[in-house]
Amino acid sequence: MRFSFFFGTFLGWATWTVAVPLEHTKRQSCANGPTARNCWGDFSIDDDVTYTWPDTGVTRSYSFDVGLATLAPDGVEKVMMVVNGQYPGPTIEANWGDSVQVEVCNNLSQNGTSIHFHGVRHLNTNHADGAVSQTECPIAPGDCHTYRFKATQHGSSWYHSHYSLQYGDGLLGAIVIHGPTTANWDIDLGPLLITDHYHESVFDLADEPLTSLIGIPPVAVNGLMNGKNVYLTGTGSRAEFTFTPGKKHLLRLVNTGSEMIFRFAVDQHRMTVVAMDFIPIQPFETDTLLIAIGQRYDVIIEADQSPDVAYWARGVPMTSCFAINLMSTDIRAIVRYESDTPVTGDPTSTSWLMLDTCADEDLSNLVPHITHSVSPSALTQNFNAVLLPSQGDNYAVRWRVGGSEPYHPPKNNPVVKQVIDTAAVNLTADFNPIDLTSLAPSSWVYLIVESLAPLPHPLHLHGHDTYVLARGTGPYVELLTSLDLESPPRRDTFNLPQSGYVVLAFQTDNPGSWLLHCHIQWHIHQGFALTLVEGSPSSIQGVYGSGEDAEMRRVCQNWGSSGLETTD
Ligand code: C2O
Repeated sequence: MRFSFFFGTFLGWATWTVAVPLEHTKRQSCANGPTARNCWGDFSIDDDVTYTWPDTGVTRSYSFDVGLATLAPDGVEKVMMVVNGQYPGPTIEANWGDSVQVEVCNNLSQNGTSIHFHGVRHLNTNHADGAVSQTECPIAPGDCHTYRFKATQHGSSWYHSHYSLQYGDGLLGAIVIHGPTTANWDIDLGPLLITDHYHESVFDLADEPLTSLIGIPPVAVNGLMNGKNVYLTGTGSRAEFTFTPGKKHLLRLVNTGSEMIFRFAVDQHRMTVVAMDFIPIQPFETDTLLIAIGQRYDVIIEADQSPDVAYWARGVPMTSCFAINLMSTDIRAIVRYESDTPVTGDPTSTSWLMLDTCADEDLSNLVPHITHSVSPSALTQNFNAVLLPSQGDNYAVRWRVGGSEPYHPPKNNPVVKQVIDTAAVNLTADFNPIDLTSLAPSSWVYLIVESLAPLPHPLHLHGHDTYVLARGTGPYVELLTSLDLESPPRRDTFNLPQSGYVVLAFQTDNPGSWLLHCHIQWHIHQGFALTLVEGSPSSIQGVYGSGEDAEMRRVCQNWGSSGLETTD
């Protein structure tokens, strides 16, 4: 039987609309549809995305122009850095097993740029990771660079600039990789990006004394859902989406923020959570969901309430984590039921209890659909993340994670270039490097990250789904910590609890240079990052081959000629 399309949808601009599905090119042995979302042609939800994926032969191509635009997401004008003049940028959409290529042209006059595809594993495509100082020099003004990778996993995510603080000013968009899910749904409503929002440029805010000298995060004046919200009275408008009575709606939640953990809920509707980051999970039901920066959850919401009223979808910033948002009770979108006589006006629905906490979702809820066991480790490294004063640069406050210096590397000499040139890892301390190059392929590494600071850190490791073996409060004490080695959650973004620790594991199966960092923008800016160099120098060289190596050098050459190296 040949199957010509599946029920893919993507996000409309002001409202949610049903869109043209992507053409599915495989011969189908199992048809994905409302009663069989576990199916995916010759593949299914039971295929482990860590080891297996379709090869569709299809390439999805995108062209991104990065530039400034004056936009008003909440009715207040702001000069933003955006893709193709729009915020959020265009959604990258592909099927599981497709190839994706994104040409990025930099039309900024005073800034380099880069695009990072958050959470994409980039197996053997380290060169497409877009991490400035790691895998590339910034793309110079006037230059273009093309990223190429394969969608070996499916689910939801976002892309964003990985040059300094740029994404906080708008340089981001959603990624949707269609694939099977662990529960059935009828309608894919697409991504719902939730963020804190600042009316001033985040570059100016980062320079303010309270932030740069004392480390207090800037106050967010608003929050946005899919790039929209109202501000105080009278300006802006809200994102809206439509539920079809009796149907189950898939919603792809992404926290694209700079500072806040959000608790998300739709009034009076429960959610079934089916994926965390790019990992399908055993479905669990909840009324509200905590989403840290960089995390994603795919949820299914059944339209089982009265169609005669509208409902709020809320993103409530968790303010007990030393973060302030001036519109914390009003970051909302509107859900309306489809009807011949649709209800207009604002909803009057009441909220679920939105407990303010600094915690992350319970690990016990986050069980992968396909569990992996984790072996005893070849290498254990313990890092303390400490806030410290630092001299010699513009910022008096720095985060140091282990190592002797905060992460603050030059942009003109990326890790992989150095490793390929010298066939060794001889990085300066400002890269905060961890050299894993002597470990055999697929060795296990354990990382313990501790922080005594009274605020949580959403940590993100590039190039891997990381196993979260344990986390807790207080200092890490080996004898007192039991590790989940049988079926730990694995995901790319995970929370380091306030005044606590997290124990992580991953396998050295992806040659290249990968960042581990806090996804709070101010914190990575202040040095909260580590460089992990993985695979032998020759295997890293192999990943870059001649083409990607030459391209990296060309981009660096142009960056060097731009004379912008000193800007941050
Ligand atoms: Cu969302 Cu280092 O990235």
